[in-house]
Amino acid sequence: MAHNDQHQDDHHHPKTTLETWKEYWKTPDVWFNKPDLNELFINYHQRMLTRSGMKIFVPLCGKAVEMKWLLDHGHKVVGVEVAPVPCKTFFEENCISYDVKDMAGIPGEKYESLDHNMVIYSCDFFRFTADICGEFDGIWDSGGLNSMAVEDREAYIHVIRRLMGKGCVNLTIFINLDNSMTYEKSMTKEELEKAFGEGFIVEDVKEIEAPERFKSIGCDTLQLFAITKI
Ligand SMILES: C[S@@+](CC[C@H](N)C(=O)[O-])C[C@H]1O[C@@H](n2cnc3c(N)ncnc32)[C@H](O)[C@@H]1O
Repeated sequence: MAHNDQHQDDHHHPKTTLETWKEYWKTPDVWFNKPDLNELFINYHQRMLTRSGMKIFVPLCGKAVEMKWLLDHGHKVVGVEVAPVPCKTFFEENCISYDVKDMAGIPGEKYESLDHNMVIYSCDFFRFTADICGEFDGIWDSGGLNSMAVEDREAYIHVIRRLMGKGCVNLTIFINLDNSMTYEKSMTKEELEKAFGEGFIVEDVKEIEAPERFKSIGCDTLQLFAITKI
């Protein structure tokens, strides 16, 4: 979701800066972190997980609990998250031994489990490329594209497209904030098709009623899209 620091008018939404995101994470149980698996992940992960031992990317991951589930089910997981707090706490809360190194080439740190199956790069997503760790077999995007300001969506999708290997299924969730005055509207299937362009198929997989905590900010439903690189 595109969270904004202040509401100016219905059409202009000031961006949340990287510093503000880091500030949010000073509260251990930050409002957007969910302690339970996403309902759409529980019901539709098989759309992305077509074989064992896949390499899954979780953009703007925070300390998402779906990463631990993927790891426990034998997949290799790579997240990107600018704030160091959730990177560190993900490993500590899940009792995963890890070490931290500076990233090569761009500012940031690499948090990696000792068995190398779990990595979180603490850096700016917009500087992340396939040169850092190759292409992916699947993507779980909950609150990544959805948290981008409208003017940054194209650049975000440009990065994501290049990380998707052939056959990669990218499960992307939007919370539909069409009744909200303070948040960006979600993208439609047609907008996603246009933004991903040739070589990608966009499917409208499922729309469900939003959990109560989202209703207070004007969100009625959660929408899952599956975007496949053909
Ligand atoms: C709405 S939260 C979603 C967290 C997570 N995907 C989940 O489902 O719990 C967005 C996250 O993206 C991080 N973030 C925002 N902009 C970023 C950027 N440019 N690069 C890396 N991380 C970013 C924030 O710190 C925050 O943890």
